[in-house]
Amino acid sequence: MLAEASSSLFFPPEQSTFAGEVDGLFDFIYYLSAFFFVAIVAVMVYFVLRYHRRQGHVEQASASHNEVLEITWSVIPSILVGFIFFFGFTKYLDMREPPEDAYEIVVTASQWTWDFKYPNGATSNELHIPVGQPVRFVLQATDVLHSFYIPAFRIKMDCVPQRYTSTWVIAKDITGEGATNETHTPYDLFCAEYCGKDHSRMITKVYVHNQADFDVWLEAAANYLEGIPPEQGGEMAFKKKGCAGCHSVTGDASAKFAGPPLNGQWGTPRNVIARGSSSPESVVMDENYVRESVREPNAKVVVGRNPVMPMFDPQRLKDEEITAIIAYLKSLK
Ligand code: CUA
Repeated sequence: MLAEASSSLFFPPEQSTFAGEVDGLFDFIYYLSAFFFVAIVAVMVYFVLRYHRRQGHVEQASASHNEVLEITWSVIPSILVGFIFFFGFTKYLDMREPPEDAYEIVVTASQWTWDFKYPNGATSNELHIPVGQPVRFVLQATDVLHSFYIPAFRIKMDCVPQRYTSTWVIAKDITGEGATNETHTPYDLFCAEYCGKDHSRMITKVYVHNQADFDVWLEAAANYLEGIPPEQGGEMAFKKKGCAGCHSVTGDASAKFAGPPLNGQWGTPRNVIARGSSSPESVVMDENYVRESVREPNAKVVVGRNPVMPMFDPQRLKDEEITAIIAYLKSLK
């Protein structure tokens, strides 16, 4: 049995309980504007042809006013605008007020990654949520303005430094295996506020699970380093925590990556400028250098690089994750 996931002319399929109403109001405004645009231009063209100046015609005095016409063109648009305001405002209030039992996920935006933190302490760079239940997002930004935008859910909210904002959603259908409509692929999550050089790459995916699968995922995400070799866990941490967004492990030193490549670097020296110093010094990439670079990225900055690396405190990257990442970096040739 296929459930309908209608998609409007302009948007991806409607995947949240808000989406239908948002699209309905959008379409109403859009077609109303199109109707008036055509009607006004048509009348204008007609008047130009009908009343333009011609040889032999004497111009007539303009009518001073026409009450019926004036009332009509005031009252009808007022009703239409009132209707748009009423639906827009009431829907906006709904979208601002999550139910009290909503599941809460803390979203941290930073240049240029997304970090999602779940109630059991699990974190991820891709968003995972359960289907059919209200999920509230508490948003924050560590550096500049970002905007949390999931087109399939029709939700968008700014992430503001030094302040919490929030939004919420109920996802209508799961993604992936077993999804009941054509949208088997995870949904896109974009940053919708220009936030610097790699703004356009600040994108990730949204996975919607049924409750049982979500619980399994959540448990594994909280303990993902357990029971696997440190190198492998380090590789997962490297990708999960956004390191891979700025550091290549293939030697790619192009501008696509804001940070230096990290393969083949273990144990080699590099020239850095230490905080408070003006002359370069040489340090070897060892365990403590990596740890310091993660916890205090600006303590030593590689010569020729900008101090753009975000700080990873223990909330964001646990000690055991750093240890695993170190094992991974050692293995990269
Ligand atoms: Cu973050 Cu644009």
